[in-house]
Amino acid sequence: MKITAKQLSLPQVKVDCAVVYLPKGKTAIENHIREIGKSLRAIISPLLQNGDFTGAFGQTIPIYNTAINKIGKVIIIGYGTAEENSIEEIRRLLGKTVNALQKTRATSAVLLNLPKVQEQVQWREYGMALAEGAFLAAYSFKDYIKKAPNDDAAPPLKELIILSKKNNHIPLSKGIKIGTILAEGSNHARTLLHTPANKLRPVELEKAARAIAHESGLKIKVFKQKDLIEKKFGGILAVNKGSTEQARFIILEYTPTVKNVKTICLIGKGITFDSGGISLKPSSKMWEMKYDMGGAAAVLGALYSLGKLKPSIRIIGLIPTTENMPDGNALKPGDVITAFNKKTIEVLNTDAEGRLILADALGYATRYKPDAVIDAATLTGACVVALGHEAAAVLGNSPALIEQIIGAAAYCGEKVWPLPLWKTHKKRMKSTIANISNISDDRAAGTITAGAFLHEFVDEQYPWAHLDIAGTAWIPRSTDYLEKGPTGFGARLMAQLVLNFKSVPKNKKILQLSD
Ligand code: BES
Ligand code: MN
Ligand code: ZN
Repeated sequence: MKITAKQLSLPQVKVDCAVVYLPKGKTAIENHIREIGKSLRAIISPLLQNGDFTGAFGQTIPIYNTAINKIGKVIIIGYGTAEENSIEEIRRLLGKTVNALQKTRATSAVLLNLPKVQEQVQWREYGMALAEGAFLAAYSFKDYIKKAPNDDAAPPLKELIILSKKNNHIPLSKGIKIGTILAEGSNHARTLLHTPANKLRPVELEKAARAIAHESGLKIKVFKQKDLIEKKFGGILAVNKGSTEQARFIILEYTPTVKNVKTICLIGKGITFDSGGISLKPSSKMWEMKYDMGGAAAVLGALYSLGKLKPSIRIIGLIPTTENMPDGNALKPGDVITAFNKKTIEVLNTDAEGRLILADALGYATRYKPDAVIDAATLTGACVVALGHEAAAVLGNSPALIEQIIGAAAYCGEKVWPLPLWKTHKKRMKSTIANISNISDDRAAGTITAGAFLHEFVDEQYPWAHLDIAGTAWIPRSTDYLEKGPTGFGARLMAQLVLNFKSVPKNKKILQLSD
């Protein structure tokens, strides 16, 4: 599918469907909706007068044989009240549009009378939202379904056309291009999340990373098992002990052509399957733990997009990846291990494995002298309890960085909500025989205590924020533009953060936890 803004008038476009967006609460079509000819007006008017079509947001009615400008098929879609519409409503509206078009088996459509949104929104942003909504909604995963030879599948939707004007054509087109690349990043991530753990092991994650690096012009370096042993990646190796699959540490790098730029590290948890290890998980829903590499997928998705969008910031992607499995050789509750930065960890629960592999990555990140480090991980079930599937938790040592993440989240529609991280939380992670324990003294505030554990490996070395995406990486109910299942959450958020990044203070005093 492609989306194009064309400086044309309606009679000049050739499509098999027209989508007409209409506001709420009208009993007649206003004359300014020029494109709607007499015959369509005659069909729509009674729908409005009888209240069959109220124009409520997302209400959709297909109409046939209208012959407006020789386009036989028309879909009217309500957009509610324009003044209330935010840029998120544009994503939602395009999601509704793509779903409706796919149902009517249309292959191309022109979008007419798209609603205006709040004044401060620029045409570029508007174009981004159009593309994001459309491409995220058009995504589906059918890789493992073998088609019958004469399967009568719906024809694919090939093109969406927006009629632009001289004053908005360039920013709108630019926005569409950016939004398309951002949505592609998320969709890449969704495919990785869908892929079951027997088809996506750390070696296949490496392969996927290499393909993305190749496509987006990134450097890639991968530490294999013997490198991990030699360099003492104690956290990754400990989790890997129970698995018959090798572990990997994947390093991606995007360097802009301009010099003297800031460096941002993006870290993603890459557990390709989390059985819990010896602290085995219950079997119901254990299959969902194939998505325990959601952080890794988000980092890969973000880097895919950033490699193409080429911001003036150096970006490092760090992905520790392994399975977490029970086995005679597996890590045992009570074991003490040594992380990459030489700090020791008492592993009291082998199911708190994500933080062990992240500890290595956070320690490794210091060598880049980063201006900001963001990690994304499906880290705690407690986060799903706290925020559901609606928002990711964000916490860290830098209020300024967290502020920017909240801003990027509002901009791109991937919601985050802040949680505190205090010294009192850190105290609850004390071990009697090692530097830190991998679980807290009780279950309370599990998302925060996980963050407190990570902080041990960050200290005040760099501005850092942690995203717990356990609830948002996978959604149980479809939204207007995301089918239920994997969302790719974090890919657009991290890419957007980088695109809008303003430097944050690196002052050690500011980066300390409060009491
Ligand atoms: N991958 C899980 C967290 C998770 C749970 C992600 C549900 C998505 C949905 C993580 O490794 C884990 O098992 N965490 C434990 C930590 C506990 C042992 C301290 C948890 O949340 O129960
Ligand atoms: Mn676990
Ligand atoms: Zn896990």
